[in-house]
Amino acid sequence: MLKRWMENLRKPRGFTGRMLLAGMNVGHSGLSRWGLRHLAIGPPDHILDIGCGGGKNVARMLKLAGKGKVCGLDYSEVSVKKTTGLNRKAVRAGRSEIRLGSVSENPWPDNTFDTVTAFETVYFWPDFASDIREVRRVLKPGGIFFICNEMGKPEEGEAPYQYWIKTLGLTTYTASDFQKLLTEAEFIDVKIISGKKSRVCVSAQAKK
Ligand SMILES: C[S@@+](CC[C@H](N)C(=O)[O-])C[C@H]1O[C@@H](n2cnc3c(N)ncnc32)[C@H](O)[C@@H]1O
Repeated sequence: MLKRWMENLRKPRGFTGRMLLAGMNVGHSGLSRWGLRHLAIGPPDHILDIGCGGGKNVARMLKLAGKGKVCGLDYSEVSVKKTTGLNRKAVRAGRSEIRLGSVSENPWPDNTFDTVTAFETVYFWPDFASDIREVRRVLKPGGIFFICNEMGKPEEGEAPYQYWIKTLGLTTYTASDFQKLLTEAEFIDVKIISGKKSRVCVSAQAKK
């Protein structure tokens, strides 16, 4: 039971996956609202949310983006269906497009987005150093990559949520890990904001 639940956090599937996505849309609200306060979204922006899960963050950003477009990417069919359903009006109006695919092989062309977001998902990415190069490829020069995590890793000492990190096999990153990896992937102006407990959001600009 616990194993099925854990696998579904990594890649939602079937009935359990649908239940978890509905739960995450509610349970991650506080983190998302906190994170979005640190991200400037303008009305004409073209945004991609990677690991869009249940689609609530796509819905939130559609409200902030005015006439802009907010797309979603997820490698789980259940997540793509749920996000599409939740944002069906915007999808029909051409203001949103939700695609099935991996962060490692992003299906959009080079220089497409002003902003790429990743809420509670980078823990699962198979090769962060290479996957963020794929993020930079789809960002326009000067575009913003924004990460928002409940579970950051302290520079020293043990992280909160150790049980979950170990049980779920999550990869977590310190502020200096993010600085180093993002700089190596040709991002500049890396900003790290810490919140309560081990909350962290990171924003970095794609080099022009
Ligand atoms: C814990 S959920 C977070 C969902 C949503 N972002 C939120 O904050 O509620 C992680 C999501 O990332 C997706 N994901 C994980 N690894 C991925 C990868 N390599 N490529 C695309 N999506 C991925 C999962 O399918 C899942 O929908």
